[in-house]
Amino acid sequence: MLAIVTGGTAGIGRHIAAALAAHGATVIVTGRDPDRGAEAAADINGRFIAVDHTSVSANAELASRLRDEANPVDILVNNVGALPLGQPAVTDEGHEVSLAVNYLGPVTLTDGLLPLLAPGAHVVNVVSSAYAIYRGDPFTAPEPYVGIVAHGRAKQLHLLATLSLARRLGDGALVNAVNPGMAWTPGTQALTRESVPQWRLIWPIVRFFQRRASAQRAATAPVAWALRPPSTGRYVESDGKPRPLPDRLTDPALQDRAWRYPVEPR
Ligand SMILES: NC(=O)c1ccc[n+]([C@@H]2O[C@H](COP(=O)([O-])OP(=O)(O)OC[C@H]3O[C@@H](n4cnc5c(N)ncnc54)[C@H](OP(=O)(O)O)[C@@H]3O)[C@@H](O)[C@H]2O)c1
Repeated sequence: MLAIVTGGTAGIGRHIAAALAAHGATVIVTGRDPDRGAEAAADINGRFIAVDHTSVSANAELASRLRDEANPVDILVNNVGALPLGQPAVTDEGHEVSLAVNYLGPVTLTDGLLPLLAPGAHVVNVVSSAYAIYRGDPFTAPEPYVGIVAHGRAKQLHLLATLSLARRLGDGALVNAVNPGMAWTPGTQALTRESVPQWRLIWPIVRFFQRRASAQRAATAPVAWALRPPSTGRYVESDGKPRPLPDRLTDPALQDRAWRYPVEPR
């Protein structure tokens, strides 16, 4: 059983990778830092591939490299996803960072890996309940920039793309989006008051609870849906149970556009 866990060298992803390895999977983990990657891979007798997932072309290159190796993929966990920044940032390719790492990159990688997915493969896209924050047109960048809103929009687009892919693959694969819930991880530790203005006044309380939120526990629902997904095309909350989406996100045409947007020429 071959599994890929993006951002699997720290935080929630590291626990997902460890749990999949404990269930007998050979796990490929990705990340940017080679030392952390080597250590994480050694821990689970897996393999590390260095990649910056904010780069759309790097995601496409990773998929191409794995296609060349031609090993069928049983489990793909698109876990990587930066939490919001206080200030807007743009990648070298000209994309807003949150959109790039939470949506454009993962969809590009998944699209490139489709030929490798084993029959009945499981795909888990790690999203966030922050998807619900953004109520505008998901294909229009929110103005002015607010970190948590940009993050929510990117997660919403990834969630929509997940549902489109699940329909497209039918019985061929089980594809779901899972919110792991709050966890104290490198990403959470890097948050600032400016990232989430709504929390500015209660910041010490937010930090109190974040520090106590276990990344291992947050890995539970993504792991369950990676190993034994009971259905496909679901949005799953951190308790492991599927939830309905607001009506505005159930339109198949909107979902299909979210899938096509990063992978088709515009
Ligand atoms: N933590 C929470 O409270 C929370 C809540 C809801 C949803 N989520 C979602 O859960 C997922 C995991 O969250 P997390 O907090 O564990 O994340 P994190 O702490 O930011 O992620 C750490 C892992 O991701 C890798 N990584 C980060 N940016 C990368 C990049 N640009 N390219 C390649 N690898 C990168 C890190 O390795 P390198 O640093 O070496 O690159 C490391 O392996 C994300 O999708 C997040 O949005 C988290």
